[in-house]
Amino acid sequence: MKVLIATEKPFAKKAVDGIKKIITDAGYEVALLEKYTDKAQLLAAVADANALIIRSDKVTAEVIEAAKNLKIVVRAGAGYDNVDLAAATAKGIVVMNTPGQNSNAVAELALGMMVFMARNQFTPGTGSELKGKTLAIHAYGNVGKLVGRKGKALGMNVIAFDPFITDAKVFEADGVKKVDSIEELYAQADYLSLHIPATEQTKKSIGHKLLTSMPKGATLVNTARKEVIDEAGVIQAMTEREDLKYITDIAPEAAAEMSEKFGKRFFATPKKMGAETAEANINA
Ligand code: 3PG
Repeated sequence: MKVLIATEKPFAKKAVDGIKKIITDAGYEVALLEKYTDKAQLLAAVADANALIIRSDKVTAEVIEAAKNLKIVVRAGAGYDNVDLAAATAKGIVVMNTPGQNSNAVAELALGMMVFMARNQFTPGTGSELKGKTLAIHAYGNVGKLVGRKGKALGMNVIAFDPFITDAKVFEADGVKKVDSIEELYAQADYLSLHIPATEQTKKSIGHKLLTSMPKGATLVNTARKEVIDEAGVIQAMTEREDLKYITDIAPEAAAEMSEKFGKRFFATPKKMGAETAEANINA
């Protein structure tokens, strides 16, 4: 039985060593494919794998077809939008994820991004503080909850909306106010922290209308997925409203255009780094 760890973006060494020990102690074989640059390398590596551990690595129908012996795919992380579930199901392959295990890392980054934007991307000049500002959380899952609690600790006024949580007590337990619609959430958001998955319903759902409804000087913080953003709409909104800011951990397709047009009002990390901590990798 062969377990392939295929990570274009490698796990922390300590996490890899931990996985290797568990698998070899169980009597199985481990193969490691890190920092691969070509899909062909993944297709070749999965050919004889029985199990596959991945991060944001794309497990498409083509990969599943090439993996003749595959029985299970484990996505170390929350989002499994990178796995073709229909193709896996058709072959009887189990797909699992590890929700919550990297949430703290992502939540810390979201708050750090807010400070970064409030302080002019750490360049000289007068910044502002997070204390007293309204932090609006779009989707109150594992990451959203942690962002809410951390925002409270910084003295922010935290509000949240989640289409799947109707019980206000879930929010109140964290001192967070539940709002009843997306429109209400964005209209009050000095900082809007996105924590929605990329699904058919959410793709391109955040655009001009929501952004332009935000208060003066508002910042959109995206540690979720680039696919949920309507990039043309965001560009239009930020062109019309010179006070709006956008920071993202997932570089948009239009990153170069946004950098050029919006300067310090826009920032994208060079590579998704929300879950890039040793702790998150080990937990996952
Ligand atoms: C997740 O869905 O858990 C995060 O997006 C982490 O992604 P990564 O494994 O590519 O860092």
